[in-house]
Amino acid sequence: MKKITLEDILDPITIKTFFTEYWGKKHLVIRRNKFKNLFTWNDFNNMLNRYPDIKGLQIIKDHGRWCLDKVRKGKMKAPMLSKEEVYQIWAKGNTFVLPFSEYENKDLVDISFAFERYFGPGYCNVYASPRGNSKSFPAHADQTENFLFHTEGQTKWTIYEEFAPLKKGKPEKILDEFILDAGDLLYIPQFQFHMVETIGPRILCSVHFHNKDKQSLSSFRITTDKENKRNKWYNWVPQLYYGDDHKKIDWPKMQSDHWKKKLL
Ligand SMILES: [Fe+2]
Repeated sequence: MKKITLEDILDPITIKTFFTEYWGKKHLVIRRNKFKNLFTWNDFNNMLNRYPDIKGLQIIKDHGRWCLDKVRKGKMKAPMLSKEEVYQIWAKGNTFVLPFSEYENKDLVDISFAFERYFGPGYCNVYASPRGNSKSFPAHADQTENFLFHTEGQTKWTIYEEFAPLKKGKPEKILDEFILDAGDLLYIPQFQFHMVETIGPRILCSVHFHNKDKQSLSSFRITTDKENKRNKWYNWVPQLYYGDDHKKIDWPKMQSDHWKKKLL
């Protein structure tokens, strides 16, 4: 299977155009890309049904976040929630965040490798909301380069002219407002103010990265997958097995001799 490259992710924008015209300067919307199925309602269902055995569920509530990991480790003074309670909070309309979801499927791992040739190490947060007007964040700026893959429903975005740090107060100058659908990709530069509102049930994957050390257009470094310390994606489906001599062993030899005799 062909590996995902940054060309595939940014198509039809070229890598050169992206870095010279958008990187660190302005947001970019790429409509209808190939990554609509990165994380679907089905994936969300499977993951939430594993509760409480989830790596780090976060729930955005009126007065901040409820973080499963922090509650579990005693770092947050809040009650542990039962699965039924978590389901009821979801049903009431709260937004859920699933951090560190980059190993949920091969495409997300491939995408991370593709970005990390050009950026530093990254992570994927999945944001899911069950309905419109779900509680979300006020206008803010992030410290990372953000690539937002929309996979379910629609999301309303406001992009501001201002970049952090602000001289004072909140951002005021709206640069752009738009609605994104499943399959759309949004790039928001590091430190640019933005706000997201839910207008219906939706899922998006925020794949975000710091920049490589001292990365600039005049001295731009692209690294290889080999240099990347990220864990590889392995295909665990037993199709071909390699013996000690590194030669392929085919299916009949992988079957148990005992049962082969009985079945023949
Ligand atoms: Fe953000």
